[in-house]
Amino acid sequence: MSFLTRRTAIDGDVGHTAGSGLRATLGWPHLVALGVGAIVGTGIYTLTGEAAGLAGPGAMLAFLIAGAVCAAAALCYAEMATLMPRAGSAYTYSYAVMGETTAWVVGWSLILEYTVVCAAVAVGWAGYASGLILQYWPDAPKALMAGPHAGGIINLPAVFIAMIVAGLLALGTRESARVNFVLVIVKLIALAGFIALALPAFNGAHFTPFMPHGFWPHEVDGVKMGVMAAAAIIFFAFYGFDAISTASEETKNPARDLTIGIVGSMVLCTLIYMGVAAAAIGAMLPADFAKSPEPLAHIIRELGHPTAAQLIGLAAVIAMPTVIMVFMFGQTRVFFAMARDGLLPKALSRVNAKTGTPVLVTLFTGLIASILGGLLPLGEIVSLANAGTLAAFIATALSMMILRRKEPARPRRFKTPLWFITGPFAILGCLYLFAGLPSKTWLFFLIWNAIGLLVYLAYGRTKSNLAKS
Ligand code: ALA
Repeated sequence: MSFLTRRTAIDGDVGHTAGSGLRATLGWPHLVALGVGAIVGTGIYTLTGEAAGLAGPGAMLAFLIAGAVCAAAALCYAEMATLMPRAGSAYTYSYAVMGETTAWVVGWSLILEYTVVCAAVAVGWAGYASGLILQYWPDAPKALMAGPHAGGIINLPAVFIAMIVAGLLALGTRESARVNFVLVIVKLIALAGFIALALPAFNGAHFTPFMPHGFWPHEVDGVKMGVMAAAAIIFFAFYGFDAISTASEETKNPARDLTIGIVGSMVLCTLIYMGVAAAAIGAMLPADFAKSPEPLAHIIRELGHPTAAQLIGLAAVIAMPTVIMVFMFGQTRVFFAMARDGLLPKALSRVNAKTGTPVLVTLFTGLIASILGGLLPLGEIVSLANAGTLAAFIATALSMMILRRKEPARPRRFKTPLWFITGPFAILGCLYLFAGLPSKTWLFFLIWNAIGLLVYLAYGRTKSNLAKS
C-alpha cells in the first residue's frame, strides 16, 4: 500500500496498556481534573482582556462561538477516544482512518500545539509571577523578566516554570495527577471568588454598543479586530479536553472514564468561563481592562478589593502550571505514539523503568517550551497554538465522520449525538476560526508543516512500522 494511504487497524495491535509500558492508574476524577486543569488557564486569566479589546462586549459572543465549536469537537473526541483508547489522540485516529501521511501532518501539528501551549502558559504565568516578584523586590532585573520583543533579554520566570513542570512529570503520572487535583481546586475557588465580587457591580449598560469593532475579522494597524478575530484568539481558553484523550492508555476504564472526563470537563469549564466573562464585562467597560496583563485581578482591585485582587493573582501563579502540566503530559504521549509507530526515533518513546514515564521526551519538551516561552511574545505563541489545535480538531471530526460512513455497524461505546450535524459543524467552525487568525500565523503554520513533511519523507516514510511490514 502507498505511504499516502497505509493505515493502522482501528482495533490496533497496541490495545489498552498491553505492551505499552504505560501504567493504568487514572480514573475519571483524575481525567476531569486533567481536563479542568488544562482548560482553565492563561485564556481566562490573561486573554479575557485581549478578547474584550478586539471585540468590545461582543467578546461574549466570541466566547460563545469558540465554546460551541469546542463542544462539538469535544463530542467527536469522546467518540474517537473511546473507540481507540490509545496514546496519541487526533494523530492516532487519523492514522487508522485517513492514513499515514495525514496522520503525520496531524501529529506534527499536535507537537506544535502542545509545545507552544506550554510556552504560552509559561509566559502568562510569568506575567503574574513577575508582578508578585516586583512587589516584594522592586529592584529585580527586569531584563531577565521579558523577552527581546518587550525590550528584555530573556523571560526567566517562563523558562523556570516550564522546566519545573517537566521535572514533576518525569517523576511519574500519579504524583503529578495528585498535585494537579489540588491546584485545580485552587483555580476554581479563585474564579468563583472573582464572580462573587464582580457580580454586585454588574451594569447592563456596559453591553452597548455590543459590537463596536464589528463581527468579521478586519485588520486595523496590522491587528485583526472584530468578534471573529476575538473568537479565534479566545479559542485558546476553551481547549484542553483533547489532552485527556492522550492519557487513554493510562485510564482504568476507558469507555466510562473518557466520556465523563472529556464531556464533563468541557461543559463545566464553558459554564464557568461564560460566568467570568459576563461578570467581567458587567463590572467594567472592556476598554478599561483590555490592556491589563492581569485583567481579573485588575477588575477586582478597581472595584475596591485589593487583598482579594492579590489573592486572585496568587491563585493564578499557583494554579496556572496545571495547564502546562496537562499539555506537557499530552505532548509526551503524542511523541510516544509516533515513535512507537516508527515515525519518530524509538529512543524517544523509551519508558523509564523506575518512574514509568518517558523521561527523555518529557525533559526535551520542557526545554523547547522554555526556549520559546523565554524569547517570544504571548500573542504570537497563542495564535500558533490555536492553528495546531484547529488542525487536530478538524482531523478528529473528519475521522469520526468517515468511520461512521464506512463502518456504521461498528460497536461504539460513546456516540456523537447527531453526528452528521455535529461533525460538519465542528469542521466548519474550526475553519471559520482559522480564518480569524493573523495572516502571519497562517504563514508560520505552513512553514512548520512544510518542514514536517520533509522530516517525514526523510525518516518516517521508510522507517514506519507499516513501511517495514
Ligand atoms: N485552555 C488553556 C488556557 O486557557 C490552554 O490556558
